[in-house]
Amino acid sequence: MLSMKTAGAVLLLLWSGQVVTAADSPRETCQPVIPTLLKEMSVLIAEQRVELTHTKTQLQAMETRLRASESKAEAMETRLRASESKAEAMETRLRASESKAEAMETRLRASESKAEAMETRLRASESKAEAMETRLRASESKAEAMETRLKGNLRREREQSRVSFSAALLAQGRRTIGPSPVPLTLVFELVFTNSGNAYNSSTGIFTAPIRGVYFFVVFVYGYGSGATATGVSLHKNGEHVVLAYAQQTTYVVQPSNGASLLLEKGDEVYVELWPNSWVHDAEIHHCTFSGHLLFPM
Ligand SMILES: *[C@@H]1O[C@H](CO)[C@@H](O)[C@H](O)[C@H]1NC(C)=O
Repeated sequence: MLSMKTAGAVLLLLWSGQVVTAADSPRETCQPVIPTLLKEMSVLIAEQRVELTHTKTQLQAMETRLRASESKAEAMETRLRASESKAEAMETRLRASESKAEAMETRLRASESKAEAMETRLRASESKAEAMETRLRASESKAEAMETRLKGNLRREREQSRVSFSAALLAQGRRTIGPSPVPLTLVFELVFTNSGNAYNSSTGIFTAPIRGVYFFVVFVYGYGSGATATGVSLHKNGEHVVLAYAQQTTYVVQPSNGASLLLEKGDEVYVELWPNSWVHDAEIHHCTFSGHLLFPM
């Protein structure tokens, strides 16, 4: 114990009032027990004080570190809370965003349904338009056919309405026809014109090709004679219409007559020699029979 050479120990020894050195006499080593104990205790206390001081220092350092740690923990707590708040805010925003996305999905589906419905209507409309196009073409074809028929009819009607004939009694030579006790249809042989070919120069009969108003005129020529007249009658379907008649004793006569007649298609018009009458014709054509369609009806 006494071999302790620290500064503290030297101070303690000074404090106890017994200054000694390592070179002291051996006599001094044999001191009483109690002071020695006291010295040891002093030394111990000094040691303890040093340790206490050291420990205090350590404690202070630890306190400082603890406070730093607490500050750090507080800061971390603060940051953690901030982070949690932020996370909550983000959660809220995320949910809002999801709701928005759902709403948009719903709208998108509605829009798609609408588009499909419109597509369906569009196709139906197109089908309808095609059907109408088909009908229109059929109708146009029909109209064209009708137009063609109408034009044909008009052309035929125009052709049919060009009806006009003129004929003289004798084609050649000179001759007196009659008198005859029975009615005799005169055949005007020499055709000047016969548009529509309604007059038959073999029979002397005009046959109306269409319904209409026709004008007929007849001129005959004959010698005067006390017994025989010069006369002819215009006939329609076997019925008398008008008479061209003249009689004198000498020279010649040239009676004539005419009429406008409404004829049905197929009606026949011709000239008959009047009973007990005669007519005379020559190369210069005294006797003529003419007929013209004035207008169709
Ligand atoms: C004229 O009438 C005769 C006798 O009916 C007939 O044979 C002939 O074909 C007719 N001619 C014309 C051009 O119609």
